[in-house]
Amino acid sequence: MGFERRLAAPLLALFSMLACAPSDGAMAPTPSGSASESPSGGSTSGGPPSGGDIGAPGIGDPDFPTDGNGGYDVTHYDLRIGYTPSSKQLDGVATIEAKATQQLSRFNLDLAGYKVSDVVVDDEKAVFSRTGSELSVLPATPLAKDAGFTVKVSYAGIPTPVKDSSNLGTYGFIPTADGAFVACEPNGAKTWFPANDHPADKAAFDVTITVPEGVTALSNGEQVGEPATAGGKTTYHWREKHPMVTYLATATIGRFEVRKGRTSGGIASFAAVDPKFRGSLDSLYTVSGEVTDYWSKIFGPYPFSSTGGVIDDFSAGYALENQTKPLYGGFNPDESIIAHELAHQWFGDSVSIKQWRDLWLNEGFATYAEWLWAEHKGTNTADKLFETYRARAATDPIWKYPPGRAQPRDLFNESVYTRGGMTLHALRKAIGDDTFFQLIKTWTSDHKYGSVTTDEFVALAEKLSGKDLKPLFDAWLFQPVKPA
Ligand code: ARG
Ligand code: ZN
Repeated sequence: MGFERRLAAPLLALFSMLACAPSDGAMAPTPSGSASESPSGGSTSGGPPSGGDIGAPGIGDPDFPTDGNGGYDVTHYDLRIGYTPSSKQLDGVATIEAKATQQLSRFNLDLAGYKVSDVVVDDEKAVFSRTGSELSVLPATPLAKDAGFTVKVSYAGIPTPVKDSSNLGTYGFIPTADGAFVACEPNGAKTWFPANDHPADKAAFDVTITVPEGVTALSNGEQVGEPATAGGKTTYHWREKHPMVTYLATATIGRFEVRKGRTSGGIASFAAVDPKFRGSLDSLYTVSGEVTDYWSKIFGPYPFSSTGGVIDDFSAGYALENQTKPLYGGFNPDESIIAHELAHQWFGDSVSIKQWRDLWLNEGFATYAEWLWAEHKGTNTADKLFETYRARAATDPIWKYPPGRAQPRDLFNESVYTRGGMTLHALRKAIGDDTFFQLIKTWTSDHKYGSVTTDEFVALAEKLSGKDLKPLFDAWLFQPVKPA
């Protein structure tokens, strides 16, 4: 306590000094690489100091220490974005409603790139600074623990997507010839809005996007009203009222052909494809509907108010389960991939992970869903698929990588998918079909719209089966060798 007090005073002084410099009340943007000169730099961890009444610069994920932020919980993002594909210029105003989980004299948001012109907290101009992807905000009046507050950030610039040198490829807000491909897993939301960019903090979203007339802007959930055109620009307003993690938020923009309606089971459905994929619009729409209806029977009621999918003309090398509207990067998805992305609506989107190391709870389940889809269609069985993978030699890399602890440098390793899926099949064989499918439904309903850990899944499986399953989960999820 005494230590933080001593720390906070000079920081406040520095903030106020800097606040006087530029005319708009904001300090000048920190030149990159000069973190030590920034009021938010200088701690040994490379991020701003935390503790006391200063919100931590990370939400506490041991593998992604600067992702997300501590000290508050976002309840709603109101994002207003203007985007011009020809110049790639993005103008944004983000109004974020949050609740302080501790007393806060200062807190951070994650934002990569852009020039921030203005930050306002509860109608009072705040002082702010930038260091790397951290936007540090000093409200004029400190926030009390449990207080609700609103922070409004105005920013503009050309988006810089994340180009990962390992195996994540390019992600975030990615400019394309006719608009943008926006897929943000794991931490690319910060490339288009100031965020508490970590799956542990879920919030509702309103996304309003203004684009040149003739261009379509897509986001999660439902459209609010009709798009409005004025002065050669069209504004689309989308609303996702169910809690959503930041990496699932999208503002995919471009020329699209659209098909809307309802699935046979009565769920609203929305499919959109870049004109290059116009031949795939009907199959995307139809298969997505069929899959959503089937998963609703197997996994429990569909958690959101619409389903669907989007194919954009950007060769991402992956698809992403964007909430209500999975996004396929430059390819026509087969049934198996559609089954995978829509399974994520339950596993990952509605039931989300608290920490990235538990990613198998998303990817293992979505992979197992592919096998269940094959079983449903009669093209294969989960057991045959399981045996095919189990026949892999003991030297195969999936046995060396324990899927229960996804590695930050290799998050989407094949083991997290395939061995994660195999874990579920091994579990199904151990507890029987009835208990297994009851477990899946209980899992999705107990944690609907929430955040989970592997331990919670193991505990529920043990409770429902009455069996000690620790040896099974340990062998499949945590050992760097092929299970016996
Ligand atoms: N969750 C996606 C899927 O398997 C994969 C996302 C990969 N993200 C990335 N930046 N490469 O459905
Ligand atoms: Zn997946």
